[in-house]
Amino acid sequence: MQISPSILSADFANLQHELGRIDAADWAHVDVMDGHFVPNLTVGLPVVEALAKVSPIPLDAHLMIEDPDRWAPQYAEAGASSVTFHIEAATDPVATARAIRACGARAAFALKPGTPFAPYGDLLPEVDMVLVMTVEPGFGGQSFMADQMSKVTEVADAVQRVGSQVWVQVDGGVSAQTIEQCACAGADVFVAGSAVYGADNPGVAIEDLRGLAQQHARQHPQH
Ligand code: DX5
Ligand code: ZN
Repeated sequence: MQISPSILSADFANLQHELGRIDAADWAHVDVMDGHFVPNLTVGLPVVEALAKVSPIPLDAHLMIEDPDRWAPQYAEAGASSVTFHIEAATDPVATARAIRACGARAAFALKPGTPFAPYGDLLPEVDMVLVMTVEPGFGGQSFMADQMSKVTEVADAVQRVGSQVWVQVDGGVSAQTIEQCACAGADVFVAGSAVYGADNPGVAIEDLRGLAQQHARQHPQH
């Protein structure tokens, strides 16, 4: 059970300091938005490269950008340890995932709330994680979409069927109120922006979230 706080809710004028406040987490989630794939613009390659040099924990880059086939491997080269691209934006997801892995990073694809998983099930051997969005990508602080839990279970079941080690990540509206249902559904990596950076003590919030996730971890039936 891993926690990946999103720095989208951090103080952008003090990112090095803000990374230090979440050093109890497993990953630092960096939301890269291009103003085209989503109607918001955040940070790009130079900032990810700078953050990778000072972060006490590995970077989990979530690319909400067009043409990830071209850009995603460069985020791995820039120092992100995990690179997630949106399947809706990819032309050749197999080549893109392989290029990310060739740079030494974990590769993942993300599904918007309206995007089904089934057409992409064959991609599981090519990736290390699948991200099921629990809000429409673009902004932090939105309400959690509980109707995505069936998709989380569908992905977790498919991972189990093929016997792989692919992680299932949820992102959007994850908090102490909603993390239990994500864990029950089969998620094992939890992105939380406002729930961590909006807390008085982000370190305590991280431990609380991890504890709740562990308590409610899905019991995988054995074959
Ligand atoms: C939304 C981003 C999320 C967001 C999560 O497009 O991908 O990572 O920052 O923020 P919260 O946890 O506040 O919903
Ligand atoms: Zn994200």
